[in-house]
Parts: sequence; structure tokens; C-alpha cells
Amino acid sequence: MPSSARILRGTPATLAHLARRLRAGELVAVPTETVYGLAANALDARACRRIFTAKGRPANDPLIVHIHALAQLGQVAEINAAALKLAQKFWPGPLTLVLPKKSVIPSVVSAGLPSVAVRMPSHPLFRRLLKLAGVPLAAPSANAFGYVSPTSAEHVRAGLGKKIRYILDGGPCTIGLESTIVDLRDPRRPRLLRPGAVTRAELQRVLGVGVQSAPKQAKTGAQLAPGLLARHYSPRTPVVLHARFSVAALARSSAREAWVFLAKPKQVTGKNIFWLDAHGELHGVARHLFATLRLVDGFRFTRIHVELARGAGLADAINDRLRRAASRG
Ligand code: TXA
Ligand code: MG
Repeated sequence: MPSSARILRGTPATLAHLARRLRAGELVAVPTETVYGLAANALDARACRRIFTAKGRPANDPLIVHIHALAQLGQVAEINAAALKLAQKFWPGPLTLVLPKKSVIPSVVSAGLPSVAVRMPSHPLFRRLLKLAGVPLAAPSANAFGYVSPTSAEHVRAGLGKKIRYILDGGPCTIGLESTIVDLRDPRRPRLLRPGAVTRAELQRVLGVGVQSAPKQAKTGAQLAPGLLARHYSPRTPVVLHARFSVAALARSSAREAWVFLAKPKQVTGKNIFWLDAHGELHGVARHLFATLRLVDGFRFTRIHVELARGAGLADAINDRLRRAASRG
């Protein structure tokens, strides 16, 4: 087992080296616009098994396959017209499509399901690496299973530094929440499996049909959507959610409890007061959410109080992650 991962800058020589390591079956942590991913050659079952081992991820939680060009979609999945519409509108970007899988994708990637989740990321360094590697790359978020997703190279090192050798540094993630996942196995009945930066309203506008949420699933067998497993995305410190912060509750609380506001509060200050975006703007809130949860978790407060986002669209995705962070499994 390597002692510590190296954080590498994306020079042409480094990218060429990492592409060779990926083709040889090794793991590389990669920057994406959503969160950092832990990548392996998606056509190599042995390489993909290493992802599950490094993360401590259960084998029934399938991986997302990342592609460089639309031409690769038909190699890994059965395409339909709805998928093409969404791909043309939102790729490269934070949208993952679930489609019937082609046989080149090993069953370890899909956790035995007959479907595969596919995404074309927009991060320029990851795109260059995908092109150089010349194969689709399977990558879940690059965190130890169950913990908050990483949005910087340092986050990856903190969680997986002893399990992997290479981390490609692409700076802080610009979106900060994992991709929206849509199930398009039946294109007439698209299902939203995970909310993200591409919103339900945007999907409906492009598809011209309603997009329902996925029905709740049983706790056994392969996962259809993430988050059924206990304590997904959770800090170690208990998280308490509030529709709105009450000044009275805050005044009564101990200095050992942290308060995470959406926007910079005007009246309160202190070492236990944090905020997600200076103006509470939702893109900024999303971008800083995981880094802030990790930071505050590191201070060993007894509790982390967090204010829920208001509205729909991106607010749904932010609140989905907050509810998972608060769930004690
Ligand atoms: O933004 C993202 O999607 C990031 C970056 C790295 O691309 N990846 C990510 O992967 O969030 P991960 O493993 O943390 O979440 C992938 C989820 C799985 O938990 C699973 O629920 C869903 O994608 N998934 C994968 N394959 C699926 C399939 N065949 N059917 C339904 N859901 C699937
Ligand atoms: Mg994850």
C-alpha cells in the first residue's frame, strides 16, 4: 500500500503519465466541476474493483462512467432520443444519464444492474485526461465511503491519501454538489434519482414531459439512487437543520455548538459562527457547502446547526445533501 498520495499539477507531461497509469489499471483521483472523483478504466473490471476497495464502498453501489465525446455514449449504453436531447443540451456538464448498459461495461461497475450511469464532465483537466486515456473512466466521488464528498485535492488526500498514489489538482470544484442523475431507461417516464445543479424544471423543459422523483426503494440489493445507505455524506459531528435560524435559540446555545448560515449574518459574530456565501447566493452556497461542513467538522463542536436553502431548483439539491448530512442512519 502506498504511504501517501502525490498531488500533481496538470502539466502535459503529468497528464500523459496519468493517462498511462489509468490504462495500466491504476487509480487516479481527478477534479471535476461537481466533486473530485476516483477514476479507473471503466472497461477493466480489476481496476474498477480497486475503487471499491480504496473507498470502502459496498459492491452494490454502482459507479458513474465518464466519457469524453458523445460518440462514446453508444459504446457504453443504449441511446434513446430523450438521452440525446439531454446530452446535447447539458453535456459537458453536471448531468448523469442512466441507460441500458452495453456488455463492454463490466458488471462490477453497474453493481450487477443491467443499466449504466454515464456523464460527460466539463472540467478542462479531466476532459484532457479522458481524451489521452482513450477509454471511458468509472469514477465515484473520491471520499471514504459515507463521508462528505471532496471539492479540493486536499480533501481527497485527507480521506484517501493512504489508499491511492495520484491526485490530479484542478483547483476547487466550481459547482460543489454531485451531478443530477436522471433515469432514462424508459424515456417516456424519466425519473430524477438525485437532484443537482441541472434542475428538474430544466430537464422538463428540454424533454417536454414531467420528471418524477424515483420511488423509495428497498434497502437490499443494488442501489438505484445514492443515499439509502446510512449516513451518506455525513460529517462526524451531528448536524441539526433549521428552516430559519432563531436568534433566541442561537443566543441560548453553547459556544461549543456551530451555526452555519446561508449568508454572512449581520448581528452575530464568534468562533462558532460560519456562513456559506457572503450574500447567500445559491451557487455560492452549493460551491462552499462541502468544504464548510468539513472545516466545521474538524473543530469538534458538539453540534453543527445549518440553515436550509429556500426555493426550488438548486435549493432542492443543497437541501437533499443537508438532509443526508443530518441523517444518523
Ligand atoms: O458529480 C458526480 O456525479 C460525481 C463526479 C465524480 O462525477 N460522482 C459521483 O459518484 O457523485 P457517486 O459514486 O458518489 O455517486 C454515483 C451514484 C451511485 O451512488 C448510484 O446511486 C448512481 O450514481 N448510479 C450509478 N449507476 C447507476 C445505475 N446503473 N442506476 C442507477 N443509479 C446509478
Ligand atoms: Mg459519493
